[in-house]
Amino acid sequence: MHFIPEELDDYVVKHSENEPELLQQLGRETYQKILQPRMLSGHYQGRVLSIISKLVNPKNILEIGTYTGYSALCLAEGMQASGALHTIDINEELADFQRKYFNKSDHGNQIFQHIGDALEIIPTLNTIFDLVFIDADKENYPSYFNIVIDKLNPGGIILSDNVLWSGKILEDLKPDDMATKALLEYNILLKNDDRVETVVLPIRDGLTISRKVK
Ligand SMILES: C[S@@+](CC[C@H](N)C(=O)[O-])C[C@H]1O[C@@H](n2cnc3c(N)ncnc32)[C@H](O)[C@@H]1O
Repeated sequence: MHFIPEELDDYVVKHSENEPELLQQLGRETYQKILQPRMLSGHYQGRVLSIISKLVNPKNILEIGTYTGYSALCLAEGMQASGALHTIDINEELADFQRKYFNKSDHGNQIFQHIGDALEIIPTLNTIFDLVFIDADKENYPSYFNIVIDKLNPGGIILSDNVLWSGKILEDLKPDDMATKALLEYNILLKNDDRVETVVLPIRDGLTISRKVK
């Protein structure tokens, strides 16, 4: 979905950083071989994630929802040399694909894959994070926030993807639409929780930045 006119959107992309060659390859192979390739962050959002990570310069990063590893590689670009990126996905069939691209990058030995339900895995991680990217099943976004907030350093950042859900957050809620229901709840939760300050960016499908203030 384009939240700004397509022509302006094209201009924005054209005047932003180019997509690195490795990510172009990853994107192409995802579209050729993997189901639901539209889930991938892609060129422009990937450059946004990369520059935010470079600004934060996190030691430890948590990603919920690896898919084929595109956003993990973008986030890893800003990670400290001594840092680690933990990324979780419930779909075990994606692990070899992810690892192939992680190993081709400069950060392969700093990226740790976890396979399983993020709600079960996160409590087992003995790490305090500086940057968290939430991009898995929308129904669990409020739960992800609630378990991640205590594993985030003060000043740490949570990025949440798809918070505008193709504009569905403005439509009448259908009783069985649990994803939109959870995102509506999530956007209010972030706005009202005084442990974070939050700004919603109308980038792609909506990307929220929340900074832990206490
Ligand atoms: C939108 S994709 C992630 C895209 C990726 N972050 C990127 O930008 O390239 C969402 C991923 O979340 C995973 N997922 C869904 N439910 C999950 C859960 N409960 N725990 C962990 N991963 C989950 C899916 O298997 C899928 O690969």
